[in-house]
Amino acid sequence: MNSTSPHIRSEIIKYSKCPKYIQEEIIRQFLKEWDDYKDKTYVDRWITELLEDNGQFYVMIDIDTNKFIGTIGIQFGETHIDGVLVSPAYRNHGFGKRLLQFAENQLKKKNTDKVSLYCYEHMCAFYINLGWTHNGVIKMKNGLLGHVMKKKL
Ligand SMILES: CC(C)(COP(=O)(O)OP(=O)(O)OC[C@H]1O[C@@H](n2cnc3c(N)ncnc32)[C@H](O)[C@@H]1OP(=O)(O)O)[C@@H](O)C(=O)NCCC(=O)NCCS
Repeated sequence: MNSTSPHIRSEIIKYSKCPKYIQEEIIRQFLKEWDDYKDKTYVDRWITELLEDNGQFYVMIDIDTNKFIGTIGIQFGETHIDGVLVSPAYRNHGFGKRLLQFAENQLKKKNTDKVSLYCYEHMCAFYINLGWTHNGVIKMKNGLLGHVMKKKL
């Protein structure tokens, strides 16, 4: 059962503004969650490339505990979302949905009317529930199949 948590006060900041210990925790969780992120250098490179490619990497923080809640990456040029992750301790409280709404609003501010992302098959239902549509599959950089999800903003 999902519920939002009004008692958890959160803010979204740029990854570059995060304290080092939060950046390290994010990298640890990326490596734990996704096998294709092989090591710290790989994640660092992914973030650097995102930032250099007209993108931004955002982090949601729990204001009261200074813990990391979740992340989302936005490529403004390609209007593409990547790196959607909510820390296990904060899952199923509406934070994933809020991170996606935040990203959609950021894109709308740049007059973007559509957005895409790639996900693994088991995550399609999550996005469809949030208004995304399935648009086929592609082979991703890591060689695995990515399900192409799109949404009109
Ligand atoms: C996917 C993920 C970001 C969801 O974050 P979350 O904060 O737990 O999700 P929310 O609480 O905002 O859920 C929003 C809605 O999606 C539903 N939902 C959550 N996880 C789901 C899942 N795995 N499959 C289907 N629906 C899901 C919720 O029930 C909720 O539905 P509602 O709005 O109708 O009540 C989180 O589980 C995660 O980080 N997973 C590991 C990384 C990952 O796979 N990221 C996606 C990369 S493409």
